[in-house]
Amino acid sequence: MRIAAILVAAGSGSRFGGALPKQFAPIGGKPVIRWAAEALAHHATLIQPVGDAALIEPALAGMAHLPSVQGGATRQDSVLAGLEALEPFAPDIVLVHDAARPYVPPQTVPALLAALQDYEGAIPAAPVADTLKRGANGVIAGTVPRENLFRAQTPQAFSFETLLDVHRNGIGLEATDDAGLLERAGHHVALVAGSEENIKLTYREDFSRLERSLVSLLPRVGTGFDVHRLAPDRKLMLCGIEVPHTLGLAGHSDADVGIHALCDAIYGALAEGDIGRHFPPSEANWKDADSARFLRHAAERISARGGVLVNADITLICEQPKITPHAPAMMARLAELLGVELGRISVKATTSERLGFTGRGEGIAAQAVVSILVP
Ligand code: CTP
Ligand code: MG
Repeated sequence: MRIAAILVAAGSGSRFGGALPKQFAPIGGKPVIRWAAEALAHHATLIQPVGDAALIEPALAGMAHLPSVQGGATRQDSVLAGLEALEPFAPDIVLVHDAARPYVPPQTVPALLAALQDYEGAIPAAPVADTLKRGANGVIAGTVPRENLFRAQTPQAFSFETLLDVHRNGIGLEATDDAGLLERAGHHVALVAGSEENIKLTYREDFSRLERSLVSLLPRVGTGFDVHRLAPDRKLMLCGIEVPHTLGLAGHSDADVGIHALCDAIYGALAEGDIGRHFPPSEANWKDADSARFLRHAAERISARGGVLVNADITLICEQPKITPHAPAMMARLAELLGVELGRISVKATTSERLGFTGRGEGIAAQAVVSILVP
């Protein structure tokens, strides 16, 4: 099942104002659109941004996505531009999401995908809580019964072919969301539970509400420690790179002590056990395994919990080889595997003053500490 996501970011944000369109404004240290893209990236293998590439590319730097395509005069035109760009990839399912909605609760997309087993489309929607009034010239003209009324949110999920078809046939019709076009074509679109926290940044005052939901993540800390024995005829893998040395580390996997300590710190912060629980050494699969896959798994666990890695700090303890010349490449590789920017990862080293097993050169030890924000 190939899932694509269109991230519409071609609006000018006229109601929000400001120098940059709202979807590029930073919240909690990240552009709004990046929060949105990271939420979608947990579910979609293809991400198609729509809007000004000069603004989108830096905001999504380091994330896998298709080249941005230009938007249109209306949101509907922008979605169609994204659909046309995705057509050659023939996805089965497409999620259409407003770049101005940075917070997608972790349960939303799974609920949409489940509903697509029975419907051509599904949207998250929140029931209307306030009493609704129709107004005219500043005076109430009537009360609108709010029973069965919902506020439509995004991401909205559709069979790709159906959505492309209704969009192509819907040129000239006006719809403020994608479900609207399916409704007109007579398709049934499922409603799944939306969230009050899935706020579209529209007015200035939305900013602080959003900041609260995004930054209402709780900081958690985890530590990891690992040791491997130095042995002849082994590659020395440390923090994801091969370091030239006369000895390598022995172990069941590639024995990358730095990555193992880092994984344990991440699992520890999430209270999800340790590396041995996720990759039991009794299983032959992990023999000589590239530890990069363990770290990718730990990163996936952070995403699956809706969390973000704030920073990681790793200390390697050995007399030889000298680590400092390799530290920049190690940090770059770890940041790449974790999908975070470089400044969040630190690798440093110390000796143990020739004392103990590290001092005698019998092995290398590593310790790691991470901080993760989790809802
Ligand atoms: N959008 C788009 N192309 C357009 C208009 C809107 O891609 N021609 C996108 C916006 O960037 C936003 C989403 O559709 O992510 C929802 O639109 P809205 O909240 O109305 O954003 P803007 O149109 O930018 O804001 P405003 O209506 O206040 O100008
Ligand atoms: Mg608009």
